[in-house]
Amino acid sequence: MPVLVQISDIHIGSLYNSSVFDKIVQEVNSMKPDAIIVTGDLTDEGILPQFEVARKELARFDCQDLIIIPGNHDYRHTGYLLYKKFFPATQINDMDEVVVITLSTARPDRDEGEVGYRQLSWMQKAIREFEGQHKKIIVAMHHHLIAIPDTGTDKILILDAGDALRVCLESHVDLVLCGHKHRPWIWNLGPLQIAYAGTASTSRFRGFFQNSYNIIEIKNADLTVKLKIVGGESIPLSDLVSNYKPYS
Ligand SMILES: [Fe+2]
Ligand SMILES: [Fe+2]
Repeated sequence: MPVLVQISDIHIGSLYNSSVFDKIVQEVNSMKPDAIIVTGDLTDEGILPQFEVARKELARFDCQDLIIIPGNHDYRHTGYLLYKKFFPATQINDMDEVVVITLSTARPDRDEGEVGYRQLSWMQKAIREFEGQHKKIIVAMHHHLIAIPDTGTDKILILDAGDALRVCLESHVDLVLCGHKHRPWIWNLGPLQIAYAGTASTSRFRGFFQNSYNIIEIKNADLTVKLKIVGGESIPLSDLVSNYKPYS
């Protein structure tokens, strides 16, 4: 049974909690996941010393497939130039039963995300290559594809979210992984699930006040996303949604 881990919004900088990250490293390494997907905002300000720490911290994971994408914070202060040197991208990650495709939604010095026509048509063609192979298709991006509760304004959504969502549905993507909002959540759109990770290691919480990451389990035809509280329990992410009580 393939097991993947999604870690997001590490935010190395002034609100970074290294002891929480130590715990994540310990927990995730003992899980021996097939891949770890880091969905952006590795750093808080996109500056050189933060990238150096980020590289050192991520190297502590004992996992062959470490899939890393940038967030808007990583592209600040010319961080987009450094990011490419520290974390060269592999956009198609083909494993035995699952393919992880990464999209870059971050843009230099901009908080809103954009996938772009070229990247979307590239993704559509890339997914077509796996037709008939019965692999689960996972697309990972930093910005959130659909708005989520408790996160305030949605001015900083993906600008072309509608186009990206249409391509994901048409291409029969099984799961989209997003970060950015520091709020664990999941939308189930029939065949497509869209899962959001909380923040792994900063105290900049939104509506959910514990550090967490996601665990993706693929068993036969089923794909389940679980929320793992750092140092605590793990529950299906869908339970968090069904137990949600607004304004209580
Ligand atoms: Fe973030
Ligand atoms: Fe972000």
